Amino acid sequence: MASLNAIAKKLVEPGKGILAADESEPTIAKRFAKIGLPSTEELRRDYREMLFRAREAMTSYISGVILTEETLLQHAADGTAFRAMLADCDAIPGIKVDKGTFPMPGDTGEKLTQGLDGLRERLARYASLGAGFAKWRGVITISATAPTRNNIRANAHALARYAILCQEAGIVPIVEPEVIGDGEPGDHSIDRCEEVTGETLEAVFQELRLAGVDLSGMLLKPNMVLPGTRAQQRAEVDEVARRTVDTMLRYVPAAVPGIAFLSGGQSDEEATAHLSAMNKIEGLPWRLTFSYGRALQNAALMLWKGRPENVKLAQAAFAHRAHMNALAALGQWQPELDKAA
Ligand code: G3H
Repeated sequence: MASLNAIAKKLVEPGKGILAADESEPTIAKRFAKIGLPSTEELRRDYREMLFRAREAMTSYISGVILTEETLLQHAADGTAFRAMLADCDAIPGIKVDKGTFPMPGDTGEKLTQGLDGLRERLARYASLGAGFAKWRGVITISATAPTRNNIRANAHALARYAILCQEAGIVPIVEPEVIGDGEPGDHSIDRCEEVTGETLEAVFQELRLAGVDLSGMLLKPNMVLPGTRAQQRAEVDEVARRTVDTMLRYVPAAVPGIAFLSGGQSDEEATAHLSAMNKIEGLPWRLTFSYGRALQNAALMLWKGRPENVKLAQAAFAHRAHMNALAALGQWQPELDKAA
């Protein structure tokens, strides 16, 4: 079995990143509703098959794919197991193991993540099915009353309990504390996001250490430091890059091999531009790459529309986006490349 550190490093190898294709059933239903499709098992399979069969994208730009349990076990229309398809592209299969969020008791509108009960057994099973890494997402809300210290602490504690169980099973944990930028009211400033992201990361690494998590055998999946999506005052690309990197430098130990950002509702091009600008900053102790869901899939989903005749076009859109983000992971993306495309 490859060491946790070797798997983590492979996931963030230069010029590659992670495809987050682990939309839960309610989330994929929302995405499909945008193209007028119901969320059936067959359509979910066809959609993900379209992505995984985009060979150029998968082999050149994608190091790993986060799956749901359904997809980890699923087969393409011709009977090929998705796991075999990913192995053929040298993409590591990963698994989302949290069971979503529920409202935290109280009236602050915050959320807690569930899924720890029975997790040890589930992880052993996922490891035997070939999962090399896992993901757990904690959600931190920003509003007039949130986040509370209690919510940050509870989310950090759950992330640490999840992470140590993953390592025990030989699975690399992706630790995802997401400070939400596109929630309600979503009008917070970039200063507020920076402050809350810092507090959250401080609590997360404190809990990870307490739990005995090997920091060299995990990856962090954080939000970028951004104003809320409804904030009046926007931020320039270089400011987002600088503030995000500064926040990571203050709170993320150098032992962590890589940081794979979520896109969190940014436009496709913003998510790429921000990552590329961060990677232009020299002397960082970790690799910085993408673990995008929407910012990798938006264009492909809109073109696909559930129709077999659109598969090639959708795959080309996915390959383009993956290529742009792969360049961003090297700090080499230029806006002209997107305009030309
Ligand atoms: O948990 C969040 C997803 O894995 C990343 O999704 O890039 O659309 O925010 P996103």
